[in-house]
Amino acid sequence: MTLCALLLLLCGCSSGDRFREVAIEEPYAHKVDSVLSLMTLEEKIGQLNQYTGNYQATGPVIDDTTKIEQIKKGRVGSMLNIKGAHQTRELQEYAMQSRLRIPLLFGLDVIHGMRTIYPIPLGEAASFDLDLIRRTAAGAAREAAAQGVHWTFAPMMDISRDARWGRVMEGAGEDTWYGTHVAQARVEGFQGKSLADVSTVMACAKHFAAYGACIAGKDYNTVDMSLLTLHEIYLPPFRAAVASGAASFMNSFNDLNGIPATGNTYLQRQLLKGDWAFNGVTVSDWGSIGEMVAHGYVPDLQEAARAAILAGCDMDMESRAYVSGLQELVEKGEVPEAYVDDAVRRILLKKFQLGLFDDPFRYCDPEREAQTVLCDSLRMLAREAGKKSVVLLKNDNAALPLKDFKGKIALIGALADSKVDMRGSWANEGIVEEMVTVREGLEARYGKSNVIYADGYDLETNRLQLPQALNAARRADIIVVAVGERYFHSGEAKSKADISIPKEHQELVSALKGTGKKVVTLLMGGRPMIFDEAAAHSDAVLLTWWLGTEAGNAITDVLSGDYNPSGKLPMTFPAHIGQIPIYYNYKSTGRPESKQRGYTCCYQDIDFEPAYPFGYGLSYTTFEIDAPTLEKREWGLDEEVVVKTTVRNTGSCAGKETVQLYLRDLVGSVTRPVKELRGFRQVFLQPGEETEVSFTLGKDELGFYNADLEYVVEPGTFCVMCGPDSKNVKSAEFELVP
Ligand code: GLC
Repeated sequence: MTLCALLLLLCGCSSGDRFREVAIEEPYAHKVDSVLSLMTLEEKIGQLNQYTGNYQATGPVIDDTTKIEQIKKGRVGSMLNIKGAHQTRELQEYAMQSRLRIPLLFGLDVIHGMRTIYPIPLGEAASFDLDLIRRTAAGAAREAAAQGVHWTFAPMMDISRDARWGRVMEGAGEDTWYGTHVAQARVEGFQGKSLADVSTVMACAKHFAAYGACIAGKDYNTVDMSLLTLHEIYLPPFRAAVASGAASFMNSFNDLNGIPATGNTYLQRQLLKGDWAFNGVTVSDWGSIGEMVAHGYVPDLQEAARAAILAGCDMDMESRAYVSGLQELVEKGEVPEAYVDDAVRRILLKKFQLGLFDDPFRYCDPEREAQTVLCDSLRMLAREAGKKSVVLLKNDNAALPLKDFKGKIALIGALADSKVDMRGSWANEGIVEEMVTVREGLEARYGKSNVIYADGYDLETNRLQLPQALNAARRADIIVVAVGERYFHSGEAKSKADISIPKEHQELVSALKGTGKKVVTLLMGGRPMIFDEAAAHSDAVLLTWWLGTEAGNAITDVLSGDYNPSGKLPMTFPAHIGQIPIYYNYKSTGRPESKQRGYTCCYQDIDFEPAYPFGYGLSYTTFEIDAPTLEKREWGLDEEVVVKTTVRNTGSCAGKETVQLYLRDLVGSVTRPVKELRGFRQVFLQPGEETEVSFTLGKDELGFYNADLEYVVEPGTFCVMCGPDSKNVKSAEFELVP
């Protein structure tokens, strides 16, 4: 225990025994402490204070005309929702008028791109391409930093099993193991090798923690779970983010087992800053400190400030709790100044690491901004990410690809011509006019005269416009129809009780199929959706998510066969809303689900199978994956188990397959899931070609948290499965022996 923590304990500060001071190495330690030693208490608290700018509102805005004066007085440490070399320079110049001239940190939600917009994160996760995911984060960072941004409030790494929650679009889906790898790739992409590099930004692991488990999928709702589930399912991406050097964490709106995350000492002091030895900055979510009053956890804003600072929340986003009430608490001895000092040191350290003390304006470079924003290389990256995110869910009667297609295409559906929807939610600075629609992509590829477009439905009301649609269909050789939800139906505060696509869209597909032409359906949205009727009347279905700036070109690349789709579902697609929460890595139970029903874990009125399972995605070719093989049956507990399988292209065109490896620990000291993703390999094969892929299973793959929350590997029999998705697998067994 450090001296500081001991003093805190002696002064009766309850979390003193969990207080671990930030560890700062030279050359920054003395610099940080030199600045800290000059600061008044008011100036220290100023560093913990973050206000929103007027670029965009991402929460309930408080009308405050004093922000600039407060910046000049050193009472503001950071601004969010600010961008642009000129605007950030202007605000930084105000900070340079303060007594100590401590530079501001500029934060922004660069969730899936800054000006060049990439696929929404859930869509990009379908690529199962960690290198691509790292590259788009790096591209977004390059563009954001060129526009004066130091800090992105991303990656969002909330595991979620409930598609009713609108924010599933921001994450990597339902699987903890994959979500952990995606989180690390995004943190590394944003931060690069050094925060001193002006083409990188601070990452922010959010929302800490378990926000994606909000009851009934209602945003901001209560989260209540065992610590075992918290550690097994929801915390691993965050712990990995620390290992990847994430510069910051954002705590979450929800309460967790009765304690709001923003004031949760267990999460922030015991785990994050204690056990995990995190030396970065923790920031509240928008107003979440003040919202602890609404939670009924504290009586007023000043008590909210006390709870949050003691629990380990360094910076106050927009609630004004710290800047209004913390000084009195410290002066009355009710909050040790050591807590304030620790938070300030963490924030000053980031400002030094970013090089802002050397040059507060180093990110405010209009020339670099002009050269970087929407440059060709970033647009090409967006197109690559877009086509790799598309998931082929159905392809009967060789409807796709439209390779060497010479006929007329009827493109039906207002979503196919809606630039604003292509961006998805959290589209930041993505300018609507710069989005490429499906209509534009198809016309560019096949010629305007060969694409016959009709809205099919009103974009706002969904009111059907069948005559025009059927007329277009009858004049064409194939029908491409766009259905789904609007871009603003997913994202923050966008939970839905029913995730079905509009019934008019389902009716449209059915009517179009009635023409006898082949129907290719484009399913657009930011979450798993229920579209059973549309699917039944479609010859082919492409899940296109919201792909951003190059959406239309990327989708055309797939439709034409210029790119053979390779996406895989990062979230289970329910067959019925009543199945939610539904996920592939469920527990067996004592009465496992059975088609025979009876006394088994199932429903009497609907099947338990999802519409499309986790990991599912087709190709224009076909692949065969053999059963896994192991060189021996028995492996020592400390050995790394090597599993091999062979995959071959049994179809007629080249393509990429994501070979997935799932594991089941048949007997554990706590019940284990029927399967868990523990590896994947992407292979690109020519027709007839085959290759062997190998997986190595170590402690990270074989272990789990036991009832005492210890991470253990236990001896016993394991079933290892390989396949193209989580359902169609072949298996083998091995033993782990002590
Ligand atoms: C929002 C979101 C959070 C975002 C923050 C700043 O309410 O919950 O993800 O980073 O406010 O915009």
